[in-house]
Amino acid sequence: MRTHSDDEIFQDNGPSKKDPLQVLEIWLSRARETEIPDPDAMALATADGQGHPDLRVVTLSGIAHGGLIFFTNIDSAKGNQLDENPYAAAGLHWREIGRQIRIRGKTDRIAGDEADIQFARSSVELKIAAIASDQSRPLHDRRTLMRQAAQVATAAFEFEIKRPPQWAGFRLVPASIEFWQKAEDRLHDRIHFSRKGEMEPWVRTRLYP
Ligand SMILES: Cc1cc2nc3c(=O)[nH]c(=O)nc-3n(C[C@H](O)[C@H](O)[C@H](O)COP(=O)(O)O)c2cc1C
Repeated sequence: MRTHSDDEIFQDNGPSKKDPLQVLEIWLSRARETEIPDPDAMALATADGQGHPDLRVVTLSGIAHGGLIFFTNIDSAKGNQLDENPYAAAGLHWREIGRQIRIRGKTDRIAGDEADIQFARSSVELKIAAIASDQSRPLHDRRTLMRQAAQVATAAFEFEIKRPPQWAGFRLVPASIEFWQKAEDRLHDRIHFSRKGEMEPWVRTRLYP
């Protein structure tokens, strides 16, 4: 673990106009190259219409169209919350390289045909689960889920598994992104980027740890 970060975004005379989404991609690739279990596991915080927060982990499937892409069931708890309140926050933590990234922004849905392409690339297990699971709704017993999954799997022998309409891709468009790098002396580096709108320029600020 380094004492002071040598990453160029942390240099005081570093590139102030750097696009933080590019930095996020670089950090994500570094995490994927390192022996980190589940580098794409991203904590996703949502809030309902009353502003009551909720949190769970989803899989960050990539950075595209100026946002962070994840997939979920639109009728799940988080799906309903995002419907009532599209603002969300996300966090990634990679202990092995002492890094954290925080994102706040607004979510929207990616186009259905693009979600179809992503879904087609998913594992057969994910495809079956996406269809068989009424995510976040009460399940009487595990056998019921197994039976539903077996029915989908049987049908999958004959037909290609198509993305069910309830399994959708979301894009979290950042209004702010913070990069945190651990330092052994606990004088960690924090660089915060924020902008007033998707087309507005990013403002880079160093924060006390
Ligand atoms: C490592 C990891 C990755 C996950 N990836 C996803 C995902 O990509 N999409 C998803 O809907 N749930 C994913 N889950 C399950 C969610 O954490 C959660 O249990 C589920 O989406 C229901 O959340 P909700 O009731 O808040 O809607 C993942 C869980 C873990 C631990």
